[in-house]
Amino acid sequence: MELLANNIFYCGEKHPQRAIFDQLIPLPQGTTYNSFFIIGSEKTALIDTIYPPLIDELLETLQKNNVKTIDYIVANHGEQDHSGALPVLVERFPEAKIVTNPKCKELLIAEHHIDENKFITVADKETISLGDKTLEFHHAPWVHWPDTMFTFVKEDKVLFTCDFLGAHHTQGDIFADNSKELEISAKRYYAEIMMPYRNFCKKYVCLVEELKPNMVCPSHGPIYKDVSFILNLYKSWTSDDVVKKVVVPYVSMYNSSYEMAKRLSECIKKSGIEVVMADLVETDEGEIAMELVDAAAVVLACSMVLAGPHPKAVYVAYLMNLIKPKMKYFAILGSYGWGGRLVETIEGLMPMVRAEKLENIVVKGKPTEEDLQKVDKLADELIEKIQAL
Ligand code: FEO
Repeated sequence: MELLANNIFYCGEKHPQRAIFDQLIPLPQGTTYNSFFIIGSEKTALIDTIYPPLIDELLETLQKNNVKTIDYIVANHGEQDHSGALPVLVERFPEAKIVTNPKCKELLIAEHHIDENKFITVADKETISLGDKTLEFHHAPWVHWPDTMFTFVKEDKVLFTCDFLGAHHTQGDIFADNSKELEISAKRYYAEIMMPYRNFCKKYVCLVEELKPNMVCPSHGPIYKDVSFILNLYKSWTSDDVVKKVVVPYVSMYNSSYEMAKRLSECIKKSGIEVVMADLVETDEGEIAMELVDAAAVVLACSMVLAGPHPKAVYVAYLMNLIKPKMKYFAILGSYGWGGRLVETIEGLMPMVRAEKLENIVVKGKPTEEDLQKVDKLADELIEKIQAL
C-alpha cells in the first residue's frame, strides 16, 4: 500500500488491459480502480473496493500489508467496478460493516444479495469516528448514479469523490502530474460519464471548494494534491459557455453527404471558427463525446440506408441525447436515393438536446451546385450566430 497522507493508504489497482467500460466506452489506456485504507487510532476503514476480476489483487495487497481487521467498508457508489469485491470482503472480514447511504444500500443488496444486517446507513453530513479521524459523508447523487456520495476525512482534509473528478488514466504516478495527457483523459471521462449530469457537477464543484480538501482521491485515475487543476477544468466544461467550434460527424456511402460536409467545413474554417470533421466509420464514441463537451454547434451529415438514416448517424444522435452536450445549434445534411425519413428519425432521437435547429439540407443523389450554395448559406448563418456568442 502506498502512503498518501497521515495513515491514509492507496490500495487500488491499475487495469491497463481493459479495453472497454460498461461494454460501451472505449478505454485507450485502460483504467484504475482506486481503493483506500485508513487507519484510525481505534478503527480502520476501507474506502471502496474493486472490479470483480481484480478481487484477488486487492486481497493480496491487504494481506501483504498485514491488514487483519476492517471495521468499516465505505461504499461511495454501488457500481461494480467499486463494489464488486464486497461479497468476498464481508466473508473474509466478518467484523466489517458496510457504510453507505440508503440508495446505495438498496442497489448493493440488489446487485450482490448482501445481508441487510451488514449495513450501516449514513445521512448527508453524518460522521463516523475512527478515533483520531472522522469520516464525514456527503451525499452527492448523480455523479454517476443516484447513489453516489463523497467521504471526507476531516482532520486530514482528504476527500474521496468516487467517480466524480476521475479519469480513465493509467500512465504515470499515483499523483496527478497536471499534464496535457491527463487533461485529455479527464475530459474524455467527463464527456462520457459526467456530461449528462452537468448541473450536478457544477453543484459538486462548489461543494468540493467549500470543503477545501488538501487532497482529492477519485476512484479512477490519479490523485490530486493540486485540487485546483481538476476543479478549474470542470468549471470550464460545466459552464454554459461554448467554444467557437463546429463538430461535423459524418457517414457517407458514396460521398454525397461528405461533399456537403466538406463544403460546409471549408466555408466555416475561412471565418476562423474551428471545425472538427469526424468520420463515424473511424472515430470512436469517446472522441466524438469529447469534442461535444464545449462545441458551439453540431452538423450531422449522413447517407440514407433503405428508408432511414445510416445506423452510424442514428447511434450518434442517440448518444447526443444521452450525454446532452451544451451546443447551441444543430443541423442535418443528408442525401437519399429514393426517399425515406432521415430528418424525422434523427430529430426524433434527440428530444433532450436543447440546441436551436437550423435549416436541414437533404438532397437527392449527388448535391448540385445549387444544393452546395444552400450549404454555403447554412455555413454563413452558423458563422454569424457563433461569432455573436
Ligand atoms: Fe466507476 Fe460509476 O463507476
